[in-house]
Amino acid sequence: MKKISRLWSLSLLLVGLALVLFGCGGGSEETAEPASGSDSDGGGKEKLVVGTDATYAPMEYMDNNGNIVGIDIDIVEAIAEEVGVEVEFKNIGWEPLFPAVENGEVDFAVSSITITDERKETFDFTDPYYVAKQVILVKEGSDIKSFEDLKDKKVSLQINTTGHAMMRDIQGNTSSNIIAAETMPLAIEELLNGNADAAVGDNSTVNEYIKNNPNVEMEVIEDDSVEQEFYGLMVKKGNTEVVDLLNEGIQKIKENGKLKEITGFDIE
Ligand code: ARG
Repeated sequence: MKKISRLWSLSLLLVGLALVLFGCGGGSEETAEPASGSDSDGGGKEKLVVGTDATYAPMEYMDNNGNIVGIDIDIVEAIAEEVGVEVEFKNIGWEPLFPAVENGEVDFAVSSITITDERKETFDFTDPYYVAKQVILVKEGSDIKSFEDLKDKKVSLQINTTGHAMMRDIQGNTSSNIIAAETMPLAIEELLNGNADAAVGDNSTVNEYIKNNPNVEMEVIEDDSVEQEFYGLMVKKGNTEVVDLLNEGIQKIKENGKLKEITGFDIE
């Protein structure tokens, strides 16, 4: 009798041990918390695919090793770290970026995208994370001093940007004086080679161009009558799950000073 009960308790003990070990293993896999912001093995982390047009230095561009880098990229990485997701960037280009968000090829887009009422009809946006403004790039000594002066001038810009919309407002939708290039560097090229009298684009990128090319004889014209624009992350309409997650991250990096550390200025 005694022997049997001892055997029993031994086997119960073994079964119990096995359950504990087994249970533990299974459990830890499911509840594994992402190691806060390091490790890219992605164990258990949700991954979001992020589309961009990496031709917009210093916001998003390709470095010499072919990596997508920039201020926008740093911001999205900081957001992802705060909310515990992994992000993978895809260089889609500007015009194809919009359908890529719409058809779900990417989970969201970061690309210095200004939040506009028109875009809000088709997409959802996060809270703003960056402030910008349209500026004019001209050859040094040009008589162009304001947007008003661009009324009858040849102006290059990146297609379907807020700068494009602004020039359509000034010159009319069918103006043949607007040169709509596929990228901002190509728009600036039109000014350099004399096809355009001015180039229009976001101050974030135009100022950087001047900084990186000190020997081109160009100057940036700021027009005080121009309204500020706010950049947001662009998400497929109705995808509140991703918008909420990104907003949570944006809120956190606004509060903990990380956003200011990356951009150099306060927003809100
Ligand atoms: N902020 C402007 C817009 O939304 C220009 C953005 C262009 N961004 C880019 N990566 N090419 O229209």
